[in-house]
Amino acid sequence: MKLAVVGTGYVGLVTGVCLAKFGNDVVCVDTNTQKIEALSRGTVPFYEPGLEEIIRNNLEAGRLSFSTDLPSALDDALMCFITVGTPSLEDGSADLSAVRSVAETIGRSMKEYKLVVVKSTVPVSTCDFVRQAVAAELAKRREDIPFDVASNPEFLREGAAVRDFLEPDRVVVGVDCDRSADIMKELYSFLPPEKVIFMDIRSSEMTKYAANAMLATRISFMNEIAAVCERLGADVEKVRMGMGSDSRIGYAFLSAGCGFGGSCFPKDVRALKEFARKEGLEMQILQAVEEVNERQKHVLFGKLLRHFGCMKGKTIGIWGLSFKPKTSDVREAPAQALIADLAAAGAKVQAHDPKAMDETREALGDLQGVLYVNNQYDAVNGADALVLVTEWDIYKQPDFKKIRSLLASPVIFDGRNQYSPAEMKRQGFVYYSIGRGTA
Ligand code: UDX
Repeated sequence: MKLAVVGTGYVGLVTGVCLAKFGNDVVCVDTNTQKIEALSRGTVPFYEPGLEEIIRNNLEAGRLSFSTDLPSALDDALMCFITVGTPSLEDGSADLSAVRSVAETIGRSMKEYKLVVVKSTVPVSTCDFVRQAVAAELAKRREDIPFDVASNPEFLREGAAVRDFLEPDRVVVGVDCDRSADIMKELYSFLPPEKVIFMDIRSSEMTKYAANAMLATRISFMNEIAAVCERLGADVEKVRMGMGSDSRIGYAFLSAGCGFGGSCFPKDVRALKEFARKEGLEMQILQAVEEVNERQKHVLFGKLLRHFGCMKGKTIGIWGLSFKPKTSDVREAPAQALIADLAAAGAKVQAHDPKAMDETREALGDLQGVLYVNNQYDAVNGADALVLVTEWDIYKQPDFKKIRSLLASPVIFDGRNQYSPAEMKRQGFVYYSIGRGTA
């Protein structure tokens, strides 16, 4: 099939590139000329395991191209995926201006039948909004070209996006007619049919928000449980194992830590709350999920402050700046809250991350006393404590003897419960983690 994918952000790029891998002819479109030029040379503007390799293979095979010209890309395409950004507006609702602009261009330039597939995370009813925008432009042209709109939310995790696309738990598709259902069936024929769940469009749109909100809720719930564990001398890691083994609960997304970040959970929780509120519904659980997460992002700073009494003049080594491992994405990353707290309190920071140092510097601006170092042990050198914020593999089994000899005082704050309290004690560290009996 011939496909156009509009928006070469994370979702668009992974979608377009993976669909090309299955033999489709894909044109990925973006308004950003520089980005399109770089992608045409096989260079990806962010880090995602496996992505660059598939792009290069597909470019060589001639199944994939990049363009800034949406009308031309649409000419041959049967389907057009909308995968543009939907950032949060000030009130938390999703900004649909990019979605509207793509829909209008489709309406202005289409010459024959198109299936428009909305993949961006959009509030329930956005497919209707897209349909109206396309129809309005067609009406201006006095054209009556048929088209359908379908919803096909993405559930890709950054760092595992290619695998998630190729081997998903499920694909959710919202359709309102047989023609679009048949096209979507063919598109996903590389998957076992039971993995592709068809439903009406609004339920499909809602599924995405409900799924992300549920996962975010589990994390905030566990962060609250961790706070209680800490006070009462219980270990949240043992509690998690005990809970997760119940098949009704499961283990996933029950890890307490220093808060969730990223481009999805925070934004989607806010947007769901906001579009429910517009319907007169206050989502109290999600309000709490957000508040707990905000508090959690400052939990490590609170522990540091309790340990040292005053942070002025202290030097803190930080490991991990991206919002989670295997990505260079720093959007709403807990490390930024910690660095801002430390800088405001007059502490110095020596930060390390395998992929996200430039991104963090850009996001925070040049803060006084914040150094970015290229080697993880340089972050520890002369520091008063080491804080683990993001659990990249390289931090999981470090040389603790080296850390002890480099630190000015042997103190470790573990924001992701990666190390064993007993082992830390044996190695002679003062060790703080999340919800494991040591406040
Ligand atoms: C998420 C969804 O998982 C994905 O389906 C959706 O399409 C986009 O949003 P992503 O943002 O890439 O994916 O990251 P994810 O792996 O879900 O982690 C989100 C955040 O939660 C990270 O900051 C992570 O550190 C945190 N997290 C995750 C926890 O604190 N505890 C957990 O148990 C799991």
